[in-house]
Amino acid sequence: MQSNRREFLRAAAAGMAYAAGLRSAANDGLIEVLIDEPIATIAPEIYGHFVENLGGVVYDGIWVGEDSKVPNIGGLRKQLVEALRRVSPPVIRWPGGCFADSYDWRDGVGPRDKRPKRTNFWAGAGEWPKNARRAGPQHYDPNQFGTIEFTRFCKATGAQPYFAANLRGSTAQDFDRWVEYCNAPAGATTLADQRAADGEREALDVRYWGVGNEAWGCGGSFTPEDYATEFLRFTAWVPGYNVPLAFVGSGPNGNDLDWTQRFFTKVEQKGELGRMWGWSMHHYAWNASGGRTSDWSAGKGDALRFDAEQYYEILREAYQMDSFITSQWTAMGERDRRHHVKLVVDEWGAWYAPGTEPFAEALLGQQSTMRDAVLAGLTLDTFNRHADKVGLAAVAQLVNCLQSLFFAHEDQFCVTPTYHVFDMYKSHQGARSLRTMTGAPAISYPRHEGTGTLVGLSCSASLRGKTLTLTVTNPSLDQAREVEIALRGATATSAKTVTLAAADPHAHNSFANPHAVEPREEALQGSGARLTHRFPPASVTKLELSLV
Ligand code: AHR
Repeated sequence: MQSNRREFLRAAAAGMAYAAGLRSAANDGLIEVLIDEPIATIAPEIYGHFVENLGGVVYDGIWVGEDSKVPNIGGLRKQLVEALRRVSPPVIRWPGGCFADSYDWRDGVGPRDKRPKRTNFWAGAGEWPKNARRAGPQHYDPNQFGTIEFTRFCKATGAQPYFAANLRGSTAQDFDRWVEYCNAPAGATTLADQRAADGEREALDVRYWGVGNEAWGCGGSFTPEDYATEFLRFTAWVPGYNVPLAFVGSGPNGNDLDWTQRFFTKVEQKGELGRMWGWSMHHYAWNASGGRTSDWSAGKGDALRFDAEQYYEILREAYQMDSFITSQWTAMGERDRRHHVKLVVDEWGAWYAPGTEPFAEALLGQQSTMRDAVLAGLTLDTFNRHADKVGLAAVAQLVNCLQSLFFAHEDQFCVTPTYHVFDMYKSHQGARSLRTMTGAPAISYPRHEGTGTLVGLSCSASLRGKTLTLTVTNPSLDQAREVEIALRGATATSAKTVTLAAADPHAHNSFANPHAVEPREEALQGSGARLTHRFPPASVTKLELSLV
């Protein structure tokens, strides 16, 4: 039996999502949860977030200022802080993205009224809505939200900070000094004194440091070898101040294996793999064209108006995450044989064409529908299943941007369906990921170029004590699935479910209609080692089972 399961897993990894033998006769799907086959502990940091100083993410989104009429905690939007806290964010990445490689951290410290104004990296982007006001903080950064404000935001929400350092536009010494400003003990150095004068006497103990961002692109257009040299220069002998610094290298665009292999080869030849904690990877689901084009602008679809082909194409792009993780991990392992370095997927989500911004200054702002909730479910399940490989991840981006959890503008605020998915999935954080096997007919759909296929069901399971969390995504646009859930190695005494679904997959929340998409809870009928549940189309479901 064990070897049959292994066979199945191998086949599934090769893309065969449906094994006829695994489909229950009475139902149109089967999920087996192998209680005695743990994969690894799910790093809470997999449920991380990304905040870039871009459009309406920081200014208006998070930072409203202490004198604002919008309720705030020391300038931070109160409603957002409280809602984010509820989903237990483990880590937040800042200040970019591409912005990071233009940022001088010194601009964002010291008295706020003395900080310089700088042109934002994104000021000249082609995606700005025509009616966006061009004179505000989104274009000319007043630096009111700097190191202290960001780390206070992290503290207020319960998250750890993850800084992205400027590699393209600053020096290794600037980097050292930023670490010193953050982490040197109180009273020890001039920069520690400056931090105290800025309101934080105790060290900020920042552990995670990204060394540049997208070094193959906006981060400097490096070759992997040249970037490896810079990475080693930036990370050599950086004092840790008793914090085990975790350096993250700027990894590939999507699944670029050449970038990974060449970087790892060079760092290994120098004998310095031990210097790295993580290797970042960015993967956006953006091409909805069905094979018509691979052009970055022309290939994108609309966030709200989509047909079946566009719906499935975005989910299919997102689901590539699964194979990307496996192949990047294999490429890393060619040099890092003991897999000391973790994968860090610090930008992921859907990226649509401009046109659905919640307000004009929200550059790259896009609406977020049930399709995006399904995308989030598929992706988080993927990370859970690869808990042995992924050490941290960050959805892009927190508010008013790409796949956001929130929209916030002046005194208006709402959460998106993606927010609800993070809320439902938070019980996986720090639990033991368990192996699952899924049998359901793969989805086939017509696309411009041939026929597209997508997994029929996606899931992940984790165990904490006697509580099993099973999350299941049904990506089918129109088919509910009656699924048998078989627990191998335990029985359930009680179960409850939380389901996020809507009659129409285009459903979304907005300032005018903030509760259009909300999860609903119910008790699950049945107990024992076999249960049956019906998963509605385009839905994300969490089942929580008490085991004996
Ligand atoms: O998230 C938006 C941008 O996408 C980031 O700045 C960059 O890292 C990526 O290309």
